[in-house]
Amino acid sequence: MLLQENISLKPYNTFGIDAKARYFATFTDTDELAETLNLPAGQAGIKHQTSNLILGGGSNILFTKDYGGLVLKNEIKGITELHEDSEYVYVKAGAGENWHQFVLHCIERNWAGVENLSLIPGNVGASPMQNIGAYGVEIEDVFWDLEAWHIRDQKKVTFTKSDCEFGYRESVFKRKFKDEFVILNVTYQLRKKPRFNTSYGAIEQELERMGTKTLSIKAISDAVINIRSSKLPDPKEIGNAGSFFKNPSVPLTQFESLKSNFSNIVGYTNIDGSVKLAAGWLIEQCGPASGGTSWKGYRKGDAGCHSKQALVLVNYGNASGNEIYNLSEEILQSVKEKFGVTLEREVNII
Ligand code: FAD
Ligand code: EPU
Repeated sequence: MLLQENISLKPYNTFGIDAKARYFATFTDTDELAETLNLPAGQAGIKHQTSNLILGGGSNILFTKDYGGLVLKNEIKGITELHEDSEYVYVKAGAGENWHQFVLHCIERNWAGVENLSLIPGNVGASPMQNIGAYGVEIEDVFWDLEAWHIRDQKKVTFTKSDCEFGYRESVFKRKFKDEFVILNVTYQLRKKPRFNTSYGAIEQELERMGTKTLSIKAISDAVINIRSSKLPDPKEIGNAGSFFKNPSVPLTQFESLKSNFSNIVGYTNIDGSVKLAAGWLIEQCGPASGGTSWKGYRKGDAGCHSKQALVLVNYGNASGNEIYNLSEEILQSVKEKFGVTLEREVNII
C-alpha cells in the first residue's frame, strides 16, 4: 500500500478539477482496503485523518475544495461467471472494473441486459450507488447482489436488490448508508436470450440509420454509443460529469398548469401518475440574469453549459469547482423562478 500526500485529483475526476487530496491511496482487494482504513493517526504519515472518500472513475463528483482526509481509489478487478440456470447467467465484477469495458465483455459473450447502458463512464462499484440508467434500462433491472465493506464494523455485508432500495438515481448508499460502506463487487443477472429494448429515445431511428438488418445486443450497444457521442461531451476533451441535475417529477395537476403556460414543455408520465420533466428543456428555456436568452451554450470563464445538452455543465479547462457550483446555483434559481420547479443536483458535491 502506497500512501501519497497532497496529490492533485485532477486526473481522477472527469470534471478535471484541480483539487488536492491530503492523503491518497489505491486498493486492489479487501485486505488492502482494511489495512489502509485501519492506519492509526500519527502512523504511516497520516496525521489528521478525518474522513475517507471512496473514488471510482470520478465521473459523478464535483470537488469544490481540497479534500482534507484520505481518498481511496477502488481498483478491485476481475470478472467471473459464477453460475447459470436455464434463463440467466450470474456474473460478478470487481468494483474497480471500468463499466463500459464490462458492458463490452458481456456483449462479446452474448450476455444480455446491459447493452443499453453502453458508454456510461465510471466503474462497476458506482453502478448501484445511484442506480445508473440510460435508454430505458437501470442497474436494478439486472442487479443480483453486491458485497460491501462496512467501514466501522470492519466486516463484509451482502446486499440483495431489495436491500439496496433502488429508485431513480437513488439507493441506500446515497442516502441512509452514505459513507458507511465500500462496494467491493457487484453480481449481475444477465439473460442468455436477449430481450431487446429499443423503444427509448432515438434508438430505433439510429438502428435504421445504421442499416441494421438483424437486431442484436451489439447493434443496440452501437446505436446507444452513436447517440450518446452525438450529444454528450467526451470528458477527455471537455470536463463534465454527465447530467448535473436529475429530471424532476411534479404532480399531474402541476404539469397541466405548466403546460397551459408553456405548451412545449417536455414531460413523461411515471407509473404513479406524476410527470417527470426534462430538466434539459427547463434549463434551455432560462438564461442568465445578466442577459442572454438561454443557458444552453453559455460560458463564463471556463465554466459553461453544454451547447448540445443543457443538462450537462462543463469545464472548458481551468474552471474551479466553485465556479461550476455557482453556475449550477444560478441555473437552479432561474428554473425555480420561471417554472416554480426546484432542480436537485445529481452530481455528488464534495
Ligand atoms: P465516482 O464519481 O468515482 O463516485 C460517485 C459516488 O459514488 C461518490 O460518492 C463515491 O464516493 C461513490 N463511490 C464510487 N465507488 C464506490 C464504491 N466502490 N463504494 C462506495 N462508494 C463508491 N450516469 C447515469 O446514470 N446515466 C448516464 O447516462 C450517465 N452518463 C454520463 C455521461 C458522461 C459524459 C459522464 C461524465 C457521466 C455520466 N453519468 C451517467 C454519471 C456517471 O458516469 C455515473 O454516475 C457513474 O456510475 C459514476 O461512476 P464512477 O466510478 O466514476 O463514480
Ligand atoms: N432537452 C432539451 N434541451 C436540452 C436537452 C434536452 O429540450 O438541452 C429535452 C429534449 O426534449 C429531449 C429530452 O429533453 O428529448 C430528453 O433529453 P435526453 O434524451 O438527452 O435525456 P435527458 O433526460 O436529458 C437522461 C439521463 C441521462 C441519460 C439519458 C438517456 C437524467 C438526469 N439524465 O438525460 O443520464 O443518459 O436520459 O437515457 O436522468 C446522467 O445521469 O449523467 C445521464 C447522462
